[in-house]
Amino acid sequence: MKKTLIINYTPRENSNTKKMADYFIQRNKDKTQISILDLAENTPDLLLKENLNPLVARNFGGITPSDAQQSLLDKNDQLTNQLLEADYIVVVTPVYNYSLPATVKAWFDAVIQAGKTFTATEKGLVGLCEGKQALVLTTSGSDFGSEPMKSLNFATPLAATCFSLMGITTESIALFGTQQYADKLEELLETKKTEIDTFSKNWY
Ligand SMILES: Cc1cc2nc3c(=O)[nH]c(=O)nc-3n(C[C@H](O)[C@H](O)[C@H](O)COP(=O)(O)O)c2cc1C
Repeated sequence: MKKTLIINYTPRENSNTKKMADYFIQRNKDKTQISILDLAENTPDLLLKENLNPLVARNFGGITPSDAQQSLLDKNDQLTNQLLEADYIVVVTPVYNYSLPATVKAWFDAVIQAGKTFTATEKGLVGLCEGKQALVLTTSGSDFGSEPMKSLNFATPLAATCFSLMGITTESIALFGTQQYADKLEELLETKKTEIDTFSKNWY
């Protein structure tokens, strides 16, 4: 059975994005082996002085970190290995300030690792995760579906670009306008469930 990794960042009580993810899980749990990473509880390490320098030295310079340095890299290495074991990845996230929440970006910063998920060649950067596919399930308060707002959606393009660096193709199912269309929210959620149905038949 193929493995699906859900990267979940839905800390708000009664999260609408989580409703989409719950439906996805309920619908597909018999067809794929699902594991869930809750980024609000298991947050990746930010790349700061102490861990960034040994990370760069190891991944780009081939320098073996000391045990103490490696222990600072362990958490993000584990997250990377978790990604490498998955066939499908589903990122579940609201839009924050026109983009991905910092917690979700921190996950990408943790798992985009030279020599593990991508490599630098003479022809440029090449993803090492061929065969994997990703889905982004997202919601936003405003409607980013048409211009001028469409160009201000940096969330789904950023996720797709980060995945593409690793060689992973990405699709997204977005419920734009949870606040703008608050009076029609239930109706909009139902249309997204139908999109998840169609999408799931394609994957599984
Ligand atoms: C910190 C924060 C930043 C947000 N920034 C934006 C934004 O830039 N654009 C937008 O349309 N909605 C924004 N929103 C609204 C959320 O994207 C929207 O309510 C979303 O549906 C919340 O998802 P949830 O129900 O899963 O928490 C923001 C909400 C929060 C809490």
